[in-house]
Amino acid sequence: NANAGGNNGGGASAEVIKVGTNFEMTGGQASFGNSSMKGVKLAVKEINDAGGIDGKMIELVEADNASKPEESTRVAQKLISNDNVVALIGPVTSTNTLGAVPVAMEKKIPLITTSATNPKVTVDERTNKVNEWIFRACFIDPFQGKVMADFSLNDLKAKTAAMYIDTSSDYSKGLQKFFQETFTAGGGTIVSDESYQQKDTDFKAVLTRMKEKSPDVIYVPGYYEEVGKIIKQAREMGITVPILGGDGWDSPQLVEIAGAEALKNTFMSNHYAADDKSDEIVSFIDAFKKANADEVPDGLAALGYDSVKLLADAIKRAGSTDAEKLKEALAGTKDLKLATGVITLNETHDPVKSAVVLEFVDGKQTFKTKVNP
Ligand code: PHE
Repeated sequence: NANAGGNNGGGASAEVIKVGTNFEMTGGQASFGNSSMKGVKLAVKEINDAGGIDGKMIELVEADNASKPEESTRVAQKLISNDNVVALIGPVTSTNTLGAVPVAMEKKIPLITTSATNPKVTVDERTNKVNEWIFRACFIDPFQGKVMADFSLNDLKAKTAAMYIDTSSDYSKGLQKFFQETFTAGGGTIVSDESYQQKDTDFKAVLTRMKEKSPDVIYVPGYYEEVGKIIKQAREMGITVPILGGDGWDSPQLVEIAGAEALKNTFMSNHYAADDKSDEIVSFIDAFKKANADEVPDGLAALGYDSVKLLADAIKRAGSTDAEKLKEALAGTKDLKLATGVITLNETHDPVKSAVVLEFVDGKQTFKTKVNP
């Protein structure tokens, strides 16, 4: 019996595979969580419609972490201890995922984060050891930071850069470091290094200081809510230079907050481009649009979808939902063709795969380049 050990014994539950979702469904990163959830649900539906995994249906147990790391910890505990899920999917962000990591490690239940890109999610900072129960479906920030630093140096011909960092986010602080490493190694100079906190709304004093340093580009690796306001206020103050960021910009809210006009001359790194024409992406987009009233999926939806497929593939190869076997199978993930690329997990449980650079044109994310690791 694939469910031996672990699951509660009640009749029908032996025939389903319970998977817990821990997402930012409300709070400051709600747009991320809701998008990811749509991708997760599409993948579950496809798998169940095709007969499940060896005849067993996936059943989602959904939880909301309210975009807070403490809630993420609590929710992870509940999903494992009360709901007996065989694996956790989510959260989206690095800080919220780091809230759930100790729980998965202690309870020995696999956790797949869809999109937390900070390295310390899968590798313990203090011991430098791999977190053996933690996996992810996305690339990591040393790569993402390098992509935008290289893009600044080579494509935008920047010699100087300003950085504006969200110090309440592990993700943002990580990207600050990784961008700077590549940018300075390539001969560039950081002329301004400023910070903000989530929920800040007035960025003009800092932007005034930044403007005086005349940077060639400004790197703002934050989340849409504050970044939208930063871009809007910068343009209002006559700052016209390219503004760059990462996957944390990926939300329809960014355009709503900043406006299409202010987003001219801005660029972001991301996990996938909706206008990419490769087969896997086109068929994912078609299926997603059908299931979601014609909505075009963002990178988060694609990674939510891919995370379920990653888990399902491992359960199938393990022939079991036993935690130890599942963990081993996940670690052995190889050449799996998914919406965001071909996934092989390396020794730190991180996929090695390409990133894209997107440019905002008329308020729309537009494919610019693809960068291989
Ligand atoms: N990578 C971000 C983090 O680690 C989360 C994120 C991923 C946000 C993709 C938007 C899109 O916090």
